[in-house]
Amino acid sequence: MTSDIPSKVEEPTEQELSESIISVSHVDKVYGQESRDPIRALEDINLNIRKNEFVSLIGPSGCGKTTLLKCVGDIIEPTTGKISIDGQPATTARHQNLIAFFFQEDVLLPWRSVMGNVQLPLEIQGKNTDDPAMREQTQEVIETVGLQGFENSRPQELSGGMRQRVALARGFVYNPTIFLMDEPFAALDELTRRKMNQELLRIHEEIRKTTLFVTHHIPEAVWLSDRVVILSPRPGKVSEIVDIELERPRNEETRHQEAFTEYEEYLTKTVMEFEE
Ligand SMILES: Nc1ncnc2c1ncn2[C@@H]1O[C@H](COP(=O)(O)OP(=O)(O)OP(=O)(O)O)[C@@H](O)[C@H]1O
Ligand SMILES: [Mg+2]
Repeated sequence: MTSDIPSKVEEPTEQELSESIISVSHVDKVYGQESRDPIRALEDINLNIRKNEFVSLIGPSGCGKTTLLKCVGDIIEPTTGKISIDGQPATTARHQNLIAFFFQEDVLLPWRSVMGNVQLPLEIQGKNTDDPAMREQTQEVIETVGLQGFENSRPQELSGGMRQRVALARGFVYNPTIFLMDEPFAALDELTRRKMNQELLRIHEEIRKTTLFVTHHIPEAVWLSDRVVILSPRPGKVSEIVDIELERPRNEETRHQEAFTEYEEYLTKTVMEFEE
């Protein structure tokens, strides 16, 4: 590794622990534990994420990135170890609607308009979406993601990038504390992805959310993240954590900085070595 790229995998300090909002401690995940061929997907994962921090998870295919995200989001349970969110178990955090999960596919309801899709989480929570204050809140979120004027459009009338904006708006609308994003822009072409990255940077400046973001796209990880966690091949272990010390707010200029290229090359080289 180059000497000026700080990276570490150490026991967290007391201060790091007290500042962390997501705390993953000694997490293992074995799929099909009772079967003849159990699959060990994660091994002894330790990770502490601070409030408002943007952290990306990268690593070779099958190294357990989605598995880790699902454990944090309480979609599946770790086999051993502990996950806490804001000092409580992940299950409690999920029940309190503190977590929003974004998938690679946008999973919008095709028969509902943009407005109807964005309102869905509020309806599930039993909120009255006809209430003027609630409508105003939804409208604000639609504007934040740049979809004003498309409130009545159906998903099939939108481009891939616009559909992902609807998915983002649906995540923002109930004001969760934590965003878990699993390759949300993987299905988009390069230019649309770049636009969505810009959009996410802007939104992150505006309404900071603690974000755990899975990607295979290394420039995206560098551009967006405060730290990048590299997982080693299965069973996934934290191999390195790289601090991305690029100034915020970040913009197109950031991508032309020498340090940006250095991070990009270092991370690419590290992940490629795993795939050899
Ligand atoms: N429900 C499941 N049952 C059994 N094995 C699973 C299950 N889900 C994932 N696995 C296995 O666990 C390992 C990690 O999978 P995971 O989907 O977390 O990897 P990933 O890093 O997200 O990969 P990719 O980059 O391809 O999305 C893989 O070997 C996968 O086959
Ligand atoms: Mg995955």
